[in-house]
Amino acid sequence: KFILTIAGGGSTYTPGIVKSLLAKKEEFPLKELRLYDNDGDRQEKVAIIVKEVVKEFAPELKVLTTTDPETAFSDAEFIFAQMRVGKNSMREQDEKIPLRYGVVGQETCGPGGLAYGLRTIYPMAELIDLVEKYANPKHWIVNYSNPAAVVAEAMKKLRPNARIINICDMPVATIRNMAAVIGEDRNKLVVDYFGLNHFGWFTKVTVDGVDRTDEIRKHAIKHGLLVEDMTKVDAQHSDPSWIKNWKNIQYMMEMFPDYIPNPYLQYYLLGDSIVEHTNVEHTRANEVMEGREKRIFDAVDEYNRTGEVDLSSFYTGVHGQFIVDVAMSLAYNLRKRFLVMVENKGAVMNLPEDAMVEIPAYITSDGPEPIRVGEIPTFYKALIEQQYAVEKLIVEAAIEHSYTKALMALTLSKTVPSAFKAKEILDELIKANKGYWPEL
Ligand code: G6P
Repeated sequence: KFILTIAGGGSTYTPGIVKSLLAKKEEFPLKELRLYDNDGDRQEKVAIIVKEVVKEFAPELKVLTTTDPETAFSDAEFIFAQMRVGKNSMREQDEKIPLRYGVVGQETCGPGGLAYGLRTIYPMAELIDLVEKYANPKHWIVNYSNPAAVVAEAMKKLRPNARIINICDMPVATIRNMAAVIGEDRNKLVVDYFGLNHFGWFTKVTVDGVDRTDEIRKHAIKHGLLVEDMTKVDAQHSDPSWIKNWKNIQYMMEMFPDYIPNPYLQYYLLGDSIVEHTNVEHTRANEVMEGREKRIFDAVDEYNRTGEVDLSSFYTGVHGQFIVDVAMSLAYNLRKRFLVMVENKGAVMNLPEDAMVEIPAYITSDGPEPIRVGEIPTFYKALIEQQYAVEKLIVEAAIEHSYTKALMALTLSKTVPSAFKAKEILDELIKANKGYWPEL
């Protein structure tokens, strides 16, 4: 039985993740579940819901909430890392500042993603240090803190020996939609894929050894990765903004029909159209604050009034299931195949050796064993190299306290049309992130 700590326990995702954990309580038994957050108030609120989830699905399980790292990590075997530095109010800035300059405003892509990266790099390194100080020496940190690409690149440089596995649920969410398109169970799909986080392409999909890529491709060229009733496929990803994201895959595939893109590529390939159709006054951060975040705090109020809570609005999406599957593969050396972020080291032959690529890997108890991808075509290679340079430069900017490198990163981003714009946006982001960013 394991001790598992969720770092960033105050996240609105936590109840859903705990539900996913408890759905597997026989196969992945826990001795103790700990919630750790530096915002004690928020965590206590979310913990009310978490404790109700535990009461219903595993009343015997011990749950502890704390803001003290020693209590949180002592002897822990698994740490799920899901920090959001600056919370949704800073996410709103990440989205709205670039948009005011006519540039994509997104929490992980473009200038907003780089801003969020600069906020997250050092808190993440600090978290690793605390875990290493207190946790079981054989611990694993399953990290899905955003912006995942920048965080993975930074940890490779700052904490190269950390027992961390960097994952993102977007590939598996896309697989889930592809499975819905062909009417299969998502766990049966075996995919080939290459790229960076939020910047990759599916090249092949097989089910029971049969190639189903063409079927999915044909559907995607007509409808994107939407199926008739998305609410049946997933609750989170059927919000209006997500419906648009799945739809936009259609336009990318009409132009570049070879591979099936990760939906986040829309911010780079369809940026001007995305900006045109985004309301600067009401972005995804607002949608989340009015939706998922409000739902959880309303439920807490309801609980405080009545002593009861409706748990059905906290669902186990693909997000939580995937994290638990990865943890189980690490725990029991299951060698399951997942898409994860790893150092390239020749897996994609014509990309830099040191790039943090997102590719398939077998997950063993010693970490990921990446699968070789081979060579990729010019268009994709060029796009990836440009984006990887952006991620590398922003990490160097943080480490070297270099304004110029930060400006280079923003200028190189495919989302930004000129160095003038890059500079204006960067200067405003610096002001908005006072107290969060390393000095540039
Ligand atoms: C997907 C992505 C994550 C991202 C999340 C945002 O799951 O893979 O990287 O953080 O969407 O979801 P939200 O509902 O907060 O916009």
